[in-house]
Amino acid sequence: MPNSTTGDFTVERRIAADHFGRALRADVQAGLTENPKTLPPKWFYDARGSMLFDRITRLPEYYLTRAERMVLRANAERIAELTAAHTLVELGSGSSAKTRILLDALTAGGTLRRYAPLDVSESALIAAAESLAAAYPALRITATVADFETDLALPDASDAPRLVAFLGSTLGNLDPEQRAAFLGRLRQALTAPGDALLLGVDLVKDPARMLRAYDDGQGVTAEFNKNLLTVLNRELDSDFDPGAFDHRAIWNEEDERMEMRLRARLTHTVKIPTLDLTLDFLRGEDLRTEISSKFRREALEPELTQAGFTLEHWWTDQQERFAVLLALPA
Ligand code: SAH
Ligand code: AVI
Repeated sequence: MPNSTTGDFTVERRIAADHFGRALRADVQAGLTENPKTLPPKWFYDARGSMLFDRITRLPEYYLTRAERMVLRANAERIAELTAAHTLVELGSGSSAKTRILLDALTAGGTLRRYAPLDVSESALIAAAESLAAAYPALRITATVADFETDLALPDASDAPRLVAFLGSTLGNLDPEQRAAFLGRLRQALTAPGDALLLGVDLVKDPARMLRAYDDGQGVTAEFNKNLLTVLNRELDSDFDPGAFDHRAIWNEEDERMEMRLRARLTHTVKIPTLDLTLDFLRGEDLRTEISSKFRREALEPELTQAGFTLEHWWTDQQERFAVLLALPA
């Protein structure tokens, strides 16, 4: 697969050129022919989707990014002392904006040599790596385009101890089964002495606050949600009309998760010629595009234990909206 060295960072592409086409087709075939219709959220993140997510992180209603940033600022020095990481790996790194707090602390601590961001969104990864290479000229930056559900692509143990950061509550976008599989695979990969996991998770709170975060006044989240249809139209030659759907954010009380849906405004059909598929949407029918689970310490700790981790530290912001935790292989 083509790799490249661009300025002061490298980019490794660990997915075949047609991976997204093939994997997207498989997900669409499976998810849109079931009832209710669903799609996995990783398909939001083409260049436009990554740009829209970045706008979401700056919205007044989207408290997650600000809350996590506060927790990182308050504890980065301690994280650097506790982990003495030589390599910071980041899964689903996106713009790597909050990561600078960790990079600064680990650089000041004198241990950091390498930053290894990984994302499915090549455009976000390259923009982040370019800007970080300019800001941290002494740091080795090795970016990887990969799908963390199938390939963790960890730098090898010669660069240990490795601190794997998984921030932004992206863990919540996996369902419980996917989450268990992901945590188990990550634990298996953390084999060197001192390797650690730094996880950022959004906490269960007043539903009204979460509903506002996923249905903002400027409609950016609605645009982000509908961008999925644009990705499908481009990649699969389908004829979804984004105007035929409404953005919906729903609090699923039973599973303690936010869900984003696209609700059909009218009964209509959509054609996906590359899959030889004709889909019927009834007026009011929902296509679920994302789950965003919210966490409690008492439920997450046993999941970590089950995967082979010990939860060592749990830090939250003052309002207990968001937690960052440090877990070590047991
Ligand atoms: N960590 C950043 C970005 C969170 S947005 C923050 O905290 O703000 C989620 C990021 O994960 C996006 O950049 C998206 O492209 C990436 N992502 C989602 N699913 C992925 C997958 N399966 N493999 C790799 N990256 C993924
Ligand atoms: C990336 N992920 C954790 C975000 C979330 O909150 O679930 C994506 C997002 N969806 C709507 N707004 C932001």
